[in-house]
Amino acid sequence: MSALAHFSKTLAPKVFIKSFGCQMNVYDAERMKDVLAGEGYGGAETIEDADLVILNTCHIRERATEKVFSELGKVREIKEARELRGLQTKIAVAGCVAQAEGGEILRRQSSVDLVIGPQSYHRLPDLLARAGNGARVIETEFPPEDKFDHLAAPSQQAIRKRGVTAFVTIQEGCDKFCSFCVVPFTRGAETSRPLAAVIADVERLTAAGVAEVTLLGQNVNAWHGLDEGGTARGLRTLCERLSDVPGLKRIRYTTSHPNDFDAELIAAHADIEKLMPFVHLPVQSGSDRILKAMNRKHRRAKYLDIVQKLRKARPDIALSSDFIVGFPGETDADFEETLDLIREAGLASAFSFKYSPRPGTKAAESGEQVAEEVKAERLARLQTLEIEQRTAFNTATVGRELDVLFEKQGRHSGQIGGKTPYLQAVHVDGPESLIGQVARVKIISTKPNSLAGELV
Ligand code: 5AD
Ligand code: SF4
Repeated sequence: MSALAHFSKTLAPKVFIKSFGCQMNVYDAERMKDVLAGEGYGGAETIEDADLVILNTCHIRERATEKVFSELGKVREIKEARELRGLQTKIAVAGCVAQAEGGEILRRQSSVDLVIGPQSYHRLPDLLARAGNGARVIETEFPPEDKFDHLAAPSQQAIRKRGVTAFVTIQEGCDKFCSFCVVPFTRGAETSRPLAAVIADVERLTAAGVAEVTLLGQNVNAWHGLDEGGTARGLRTLCERLSDVPGLKRIRYTTSHPNDFDAELIAAHADIEKLMPFVHLPVQSGSDRILKAMNRKHRRAKYLDIVQKLRKARPDIALSSDFIVGFPGETDADFEETLDLIREAGLASAFSFKYSPRPGTKAAESGEQVAEEVKAERLARLQTLEIEQRTAFNTATVGRELDVLFEKQGRHSGQIGGKTPYLQAVHVDGPESLIGQVARVKIISTKPNSLAGELV
């Protein structure tokens, strides 16, 4: 029976998905919408208006689980208010908190009808048909079939609505087991989608006007998908093949790992014009002692070597990175090495986090936890340096001409907005017909979160 049959109303049911965390969750939310569209679901503008609410959760950040429970408390009130109006609401929890703490969610929040892990999104219609009216369903196994073979393709109309840039998951999971990280537990072992499947996805996107794709994976440069002949290929080959897809103007990938950054991928940045000169390459720490304790399997010198080689291959390349401060056992000297690495690498941007113990990970059990004030103080210092570097990077683009992919109308009439190769937001005065196109823009000034320019 379809999930639709479970709604007493004759109107098409509506779903509201609230996503937290990384870009893969944004992508997964779209896939869930596509699956549900096949079941007759439309999108709801607000939670109050939704017959189905899905919280698509993230387990990486501090107090992630508590935030989910507080969010669920709010949704529950809305569910109860709708009940008084004679309307039913199903609540589902998806994403990495669902995977890691599904049982706990069902125990603590009785209003939840369904808990679903990221590997089971293709089973949503069946699971929804079973859940509700007091029946509660939990699905956090790793199913034997490949969800990508069963996920519905988005309609051309849905793609158009989502705009000129799109995400495509090409790799999922991780085998690296960094000692702070939950991903190997929540997303499972590393898997790569086949080359032809990725190309077919991208062709479908470009046919509906998408001009830029970002290839997604927890370890995206570990991608080793099979080609048409059954041979495993690397990310360079995939980028090369995608480069031939008509209409595709830009290729990006995220998030990569230093250990999987081979010479071929570095050379790809010199050879493949559509590959954008901007790489997000998390290093986490500048101290070899801490990198070892993190089980990172790469050292500071290796990271800086990749940065140098990338710059040689593509002199205008820019980098961003992730950092954790206050990892168990991190001393002042270790932290100074991190600041020093940032100065040496010269980053266009960075994301930094206070270490937060995640249940089930090795570092959470360490007896050398760093005091909260120390973490806060280190984070503030790192972020001051990050802002300095980002500002310097943005300021250096003033006066330069850059290619901008226009994505949408600007805030004022006659204005359009887009992104530089470095993902900086830019506004110019220009015609709407440029949306979806790349045009040369001279940068004239910088604001904290965007650049202003004029069409050349
Ligand atoms: N504590 C703090 N930051 C973390 N990250 C991952 N796990 C933790 C944790 N337990 C950060 C890493 C990673 C980014 C996505 O989140 O820097 O690259
Ligand atoms: Fe987590 Fe490390 Fe795997 Fe990245 S490489 S997903 S940080 S375990």
